[in-house]
Amino acid sequence: MCGIVGYVGRAKAAPILLDGLRRLEYRGYDSAGLAVVNGRHELQTRKCAGRIAALAKLMVKKPVSGSFGVSHTRWATHGKVTNENAHPHFDASGKLALVHNGVIENYQTLREELISGGDTNFRSETDTEVLAHLIGKLYDESCATTVDTPQKKAHMLEAVRAALQRVIGTYGIALIHSDVPEFMIGARRGSPLVLGVGKGENFLASDVSAIVAYTRDAVYLNDFDVVAVDREKFEISSLAGETGDHQVSKVEFTAEDIKKGDYAHYMLKEIFEQPGTVRDAMRGRLSPEECTARLGGLNMTPPQLRDVGRIILTGCGTALHAGRVGEYLIEALANIPTEVEYASEFRHRNTPLTRETLVFTISQSGETADTLGALRESRRKGFRTLGICNNVASTIARESDGGVYMHAGPEIGVAATKSFTSQVVILTLIGLLFGRMRTLSTAEGSRIIESLEALPEQIETVLKLSDQIKEIAKKYADVTGMLFFGRQFNFPIALEGALKMKEITYLFAEGHPSAELKHGIIALIRPDLPSVFIAPDDGVFSKNLNNIEQVKARKGPVIALTSGNGASQLKTLANEIVTLPEAPDCVMPVLSVIPLQLLAYHLAVELRRDVDKPRNLAKSVTVE
Ligand code: M6R
Repeated sequence: MCGIVGYVGRAKAAPILLDGLRRLEYRGYDSAGLAVVNGRHELQTRKCAGRIAALAKLMVKKPVSGSFGVSHTRWATHGKVTNENAHPHFDASGKLALVHNGVIENYQTLREELISGGDTNFRSETDTEVLAHLIGKLYDESCATTVDTPQKKAHMLEAVRAALQRVIGTYGIALIHSDVPEFMIGARRGSPLVLGVGKGENFLASDVSAIVAYTRDAVYLNDFDVVAVDREKFEISSLAGETGDHQVSKVEFTAEDIKKGDYAHYMLKEIFEQPGTVRDAMRGRLSPEECTARLGGLNMTPPQLRDVGRIILTGCGTALHAGRVGEYLIEALANIPTEVEYASEFRHRNTPLTRETLVFTISQSGETADTLGALRESRRKGFRTLGICNNVASTIARESDGGVYMHAGPEIGVAATKSFTSQVVILTLIGLLFGRMRTLSTAEGSRIIESLEALPEQIETVLKLSDQIKEIAKKYADVTGMLFFGRQFNFPIALEGALKMKEITYLFAEGHPSAELKHGIIALIRPDLPSVFIAPDDGVFSKNLNNIEQVKARKGPVIALTSGNGASQLKTLANEIVTLPEAPDCVMPVLSVIPLQLLAYHLAVELRRDVDKPRNLAKSVTVE
């Protein structure tokens, strides 16, 4: 949510900043801007509402020069989407430029205080501008007569610390000042910020993908860190001014990994990566000899694992839906009572937790504000809290007591796809591990391992349905919406199918347990609102069949996903039949979700939607 890139070095800053913004555009894309200081100590700014492409156009008309600067791509929180509200924002003198990700909750109070002190030079409606003014004011007060650059840097750092101590809220920031050459400051609290360490150049970014083309050496800042950066060195200290040790880590992926390749969209690329990502989620974690899973990252001894009496799975959006599959899985395989909680609710409510409760947070990015809030609340209460994350350097991964990484590689498409199937596979491994310590026999454990091992090839088979699904999407391109229904393990897949559909086609879509149809939803059934049934040939197939009959009786079109003998029974009922490979109930969700990802994708393309950057959304939601 909002992307930040900062650069200080010997190269021209503007192309590096623009390139970084393009890679971060999936984090926010309603406006963009940058500020670069030239050799004459002039701050040059270009910013505009719209996409990075609009900023790039502006830069061609009005280029800037200089070797240090900051830039930003915005997802609006405070203030409309206008040129004025785009970042960077400036202090009253116009010499300090600041970019910000997060929310300054007490900005009204600070703004009023600044105005009553005589500062009337506010140009935007944003919370960010207030922070820029506050830092600028404190700097100007301390630095009035200073001419020496090292001293200016020290004063600037002090001003940042003092201002941030007054802030209530969250921030990842980067700032420069035209009087302080080749110097930039970054700080974080609640919004991610990473320092890229180069040779004779350094970078700041809210996400390492912005800078991985230039350096793979990174320092992931912690909350309350402030970093002072120039060309050759950097110094990290706390808000109170104490310096400490920080580790430089190697970024796991390269710039190649975040290219779209020959695919029309990242989403399609990521859907097609699933045979590999599902394999990577299991790699080294299956033990066919002991018919169980090995999950060393949980950091729990066998007695501790045996003592777990209740599990809470929490997350948001797609990650929450994976958790809902996990609830069915863990209860079926391990017989441990499992509940799924919206992270945004869990963090604020008083869920009764017993001593033997284990909490899992599920998050692709590892930076989702509500999921992080849930993690912190759970740990504050003293509960062991584990993460299921993709981003290994993320805040959730770092603050958890242990966990399991997805190893799915960077996910750029705003609509989550491959992260979902990896999360479900990991939850199956968790169910298997706990199950084998309880009632699951070696034969059952072994069957689950075989089904998991078969998944990558079966996913390849499902992906071959893409052309059939494209035809279905074309046929239904003028519908007013879609309903999704499933039972048991496939009920959460109905929720996920509906979420994908809403997100990228903007059509009305809802997911429900099939049986709920007759308790109200049936009133919606009509010829221009198709129902998608996820109805594999399993123990509840005949029940799904009844519900399909109920829809057909009311002239509702039916698109059915089925398997085995399901197709022959649906022949006269369903308008469209998509046949999945046969698989046991517990792994079917990994297969059944893929046609729904493809259906949403092809329909969105048919409707000419911006698939990778759907309106109003951002990839990583780092605000509440
Ligand atoms: O990064 P996270 O997994 O924590 O993200 C959670 C949700 O914001 C995310 O799944 C969102 O719902 C996706 N856009 C769904 O496609």
